[in-house]
Amino acid sequence: MGTNKLIAILPGDGIGTEVLAQATRVLDFYRTKRNLPLDLWHLDLGADRYLKDGTTYPEEVRKRISTEASAVLLGALGDPRVPGLEHARDILFGLRFGLDLYANVRPVKALADRLVPLKDRTAEDVDMVVFRENTEGIYVGMGGQFKRGTRDEVAINEDVNTRKGVERLIRAGFEHAKAHGKKRVHMADKSNAMRHAHELWYRVFFEVAKEYPGIEAKHVYVDAMCLYMIQDPSQFEVVVTCNLFGDIVTDLGAALQGGLGMASSANVHPKVPRCCDDGHGDERVAMFEPVHGSAPPLAGKDLANPLASVLTVGMMLAHLGWPDEEKRLEALVARAVAEKKCTRDVGGEFGTRAVGDWVVGELAHAF
Ligand code: NAD
Ligand code: IPM
Ligand code: MN
Repeated sequence: MGTNKLIAILPGDGIGTEVLAQATRVLDFYRTKRNLPLDLWHLDLGADRYLKDGTTYPEEVRKRISTEASAVLLGALGDPRVPGLEHARDILFGLRFGLDLYANVRPVKALADRLVPLKDRTAEDVDMVVFRENTEGIYVGMGGQFKRGTRDEVAINEDVNTRKGVERLIRAGFEHAKAHGKKRVHMADKSNAMRHAHELWYRVFFEVAKEYPGIEAKHVYVDAMCLYMIQDPSQFEVVVTCNLFGDIVTDLGAALQGGLGMASSANVHPKVPRCCDDGHGDERVAMFEPVHGSAPPLAGKDLANPLASVLTVGMMLAHLGWPDEEKRLEALVARAVAEKKCTRDVGGEFGTRAVGDWVVGELAHAF
């Protein structure tokens, strides 16, 4: 059916394949039992394929994703047999950069008190969302090595920050705050050390903030932010930051929500005022992935927590126009944790597949 939404599914490597198998069952439930108009397109890209025939991210796949798909669901990429991570970079950055998905939206929300490892803190204290810039910064791959392997060698990675890139990400954070009734936006940088790049972030942040008078704009140095996230995470509601710092603080954030097995994310291109007037706007294909990687030591053991991927499916369904399903899946995940129908990392004794069985079984009664 031409009106169905096409979802490209890329399980990738290691536990990525195991958690996406369960996430795919959830999607399949919605497709077959709830009649959501979805078509699933299963792709085998990852380390196995790369080692077999050298394929990383083929042009015909790139083209079909960008012209026909509504969303991409990605597991994780990374395999010890590919130490240079060539395939992972081509696929992951091919999607993030290639689709210009400039905002990596990473909720840091604890779904049960016992998941919060901080003394005298509860789940109420951990509820923020990080807007990570996703298309520039240190990730652009500019730079090089000189005199490699000699005593004089030089290694450079350039940190690229553009007015457009910084401004649209900051605006996306403020727009999110406005739409969700949040009172405060933090911008985390290192403008004290990175005098050029982060002076731009600092200046643009307070310029944009003037257009959102009801929302408090607070600057925080990212090192101090790491301290405050542990001392009192409740002060953070929306955080905007650069690509690298967003990567790092969301792993720290994951620790506050029960570990990487609970952290979901969306890579999107929100249409924001005064930016993004490029004619694509909200129509652009978005990509959804758990925050975690391929966890090679866990792979193949049925130990990986699939709940981050279930939450990620929720973010995807909300993006596609079914926000109630995100709420339903989040409530179900919270119950999986509360009732210990979960894996060991979050205090249960279930295997990956058994958690999927439980989630799909409960979904069948949830309507
Ligand atoms: P990782 O996220 O794979 O694992 C970090 C820690 O979290 C490990 O202790 C792991 O056991 C645990 N963990 C992660 N996911 C879990 C889950 N679902 N359930 C239970 N425990 C979980 O990070 P790493 O070890 O630094 O990286 C492994 C590989 O993954 C590397 O090749 C890295 O480059 C890659 N990676 C890929 C992505 C991605 O594709 N988006 C993200 C992060 C890391
Ligand atoms: C993530 C990962 C990636 C990143 C790696 C695998 C390049 O850590 O998605 O958080 O740094 O963006
Ligand atoms: Mn990361």
